[in-house]
Amino acid sequence: MDHVPVMPREALQYLEPRGGGIWVDFTVGGGGHARLIAERLPADAVLVGFDRDPAALAAAAERLRDVSPPVVLIHAGFERAAPELARRGFEKIAGAIADLGVSSMQLDRPERGFSFAAEGPLDMRMDPTQDLTAEQVVNETGERELADLIYQFGEERRSRRIARAIVRSRPLHTTADLARVVAAASRPMSRDKRRMRSAIHPATRTFQALRIFVNSEIEALDRWLAQLPQLLNPGARAVVISFHSLEDRAVKQAFREAARRGEFEILTPHVVRPGEDEMRSNPRSRSAKLRAAERLA
Ligand SMILES: C[S@@+](CC[C@H](N)C(=O)[O-])C[C@H]1O[C@@H](n2cnc3c(N)ncnc32)[C@H](O)[C@@H]1O
Repeated sequence: MDHVPVMPREALQYLEPRGGGIWVDFTVGGGGHARLIAERLPADAVLVGFDRDPAALAAAAERLRDVSPPVVLIHAGFERAAPELARRGFEKIAGAIADLGVSSMQLDRPERGFSFAAEGPLDMRMDPTQDLTAEQVVNETGERELADLIYQFGEERRSRRIARAIVRSRPLHTTADLARVVAAASRPMSRDKRRMRSAIHPATRTFQALRIFVNSEIEALDRWLAQLPQLLNPGARAVVISFHSLEDRAVKQAFREAARRGEFEILTPHVVRPGEDEMRSNPRSRSAKLRAAERLA
C-alpha cells in the first residue's frame, strides 16, 4: 500500500513551498509529502530527499518521476544532514520537512520485521546495511536493560513483566514468536477493565520500543535538530511531524532553545493535530503532532 502522507494540508501551509532553492524532505519515504512539495516548486528549485531505507528511496524515485524540479535522493540518515548536503554543494536550504518514524510500506512488508500483525524475521532495521537487528536486541540484552528500553521507548507500564517473559522464552526468531510472548505476558488482570477495552494489540508498545531502539531514532533526531538552524536560509521554514511523545518533546525543546538563541521564530505556539476527518480516514495520523519554525536572519 502506498504511504498516505499525514497532515498534508497543514504541512504545506506551514512549509509554504514556492520559489527556487534547495528544498529538503529529510524522511522522503514513499515520496508522499515530497510530491506535494515538488508540485508547488518551479523547475529551477531542487528537491532533495533523505532516507535510511533504500526501498523507500526507490519508491520515492517512482513517485517523483515526473515532477518539474530536479530530484536528488540521498541514502543516509538525516543525522548526517550537514556533511551529506555540503558534499553535494547544497549549503543553505529554502525549506525542510521531516515526518518521523516508520512508513506504511515498511510496516506492510512482513520481511522487514516491523509488524506484529504478520510473521517475519525480527529485523526492524530501517537501513538494512546496519548491523544491529531486533533479533539481537531481543536475544542478547539483559532483562533489566530490556525492561528499561520497553518502558522508555514504548511507554509500556508492563515492561518488567514483558522483559521477564522474553528472557524466559529465548531464543525468539520471528515477529510472531515475540508477539505471542508479549501478548501472553500482558494478558489483562480481571480488574484491569480499561486495558481490556483498549483497542491496541498488546504487543504494539513493545514493537514500537524495539524499533526506536534498533534504529537509534531519538539519538538521530537530537543530532538532526542540533544541525537544523544552521542548515536553513533566513526566512526558511522547518516542519516536523512526530508520532511519539519523546520525539515531540525533543522537537519542542530544540525549537524553544533555537528561539531563545534568536535563530528561530516558532510558528506553532501550540502543537498542531490532524482534523477529525483525517484521523478517521487515516488511522496512522491519530498520534501525529506537527510543529513548525522559521529561521530568523
Ligand atoms: C513516516 S515515513 C515518511 C513518509 C513520507 N513523508 C511520505 O509521505 O511518503 C518515515 C521515513 O523516514 C525514514 N527515516 C526514519 N528515520 C530516519 C533518519 N534518521 N534518517 C533518514 N530517514 C529516516 C524511514 O525509513 C521512513 O521511510
